[in-house]
Amino acid sequence: MQVHVVDHPLISHKLTMLRDEATDSPTFRRLVDELVTLLTYEATRDVRVEPVEVQTPVALAAGVHLTDPRPLVVPILRAGLGMLEGMQRLLPTAEVGFLGMMRNEETLEAVTYAERLPDDLTGRQCYVLDPMLATVGSIAAAIHFLVKRGANDITAITLLAAPEGVARIESELAGIGVPVTLVTAALDEGLNELGYIVPGLGDAGDRLYGVVD
Ligand code: PRP
Ligand code: URA
Repeated sequence: MQVHVVDHPLISHKLTMLRDEATDSPTFRRLVDELVTLLTYEATRDVRVEPVEVQTPVALAAGVHLTDPRPLVVPILRAGLGMLEGMQRLLPTAEVGFLGMMRNEETLEAVTYAERLPDDLTGRQCYVLDPMLATVGSIAAAIHFLVKRGANDITAITLLAAPEGVARIESELAGIGVPVTLVTAALDEGLNELGYIVPGLGDAGDRLYGVVD
């Protein structure tokens, strides 16, 4: 798996505000949105395009357009939903599939409670959106879903990742036969005993949408 930590002063600035426990929910949502747009620019460096010619008012110009079928973007509910608009701003014609996953906070296993993806993803390029890569249960399960349906190129976009999670996903995906790239705004110090990223930003879903029991 390729890991790309995007190093940019604007990303660091916005991420610092995002981490701050004093940042309120509306500001948190706006920052997530802006950060994802910045990350999308990096994450789509290898988005598939094909050559095309257009007629300008002056002459024919050689260019490119996105290849069909368009990429599939998969936000992992709940918190990944807060990343969708930021991605769609740059990829408005991408298709969107949904996965609902919830971490059991005792076992830290990911439980899938919703799935709305195309049945056949043969040869498709997919982007998974999830703000936190902690113990990796959610993102690993999402990648397995996509690979089982035929996706052959997967990029996961996160805001924060824990080194333990990155190591685990690398071993879980060894031999999967599909290139997987992780694009993240930061690689943090590690996980605490509750499976939270340190220093992290707390519970991303709760900070976006409020606490649900
Ligand atoms: C959070 C977060 C990730 C997951 C990361 O979701 O949004 O999806 O935990 O943890 P992991 O790497 O250990 O799987 P949560 O389960 O809290 O659900 P939510 O998005 O509905 O808040
Ligand atoms: N999920 C979150 O929302 N935050 C963490 O730090 C870990 C998992």
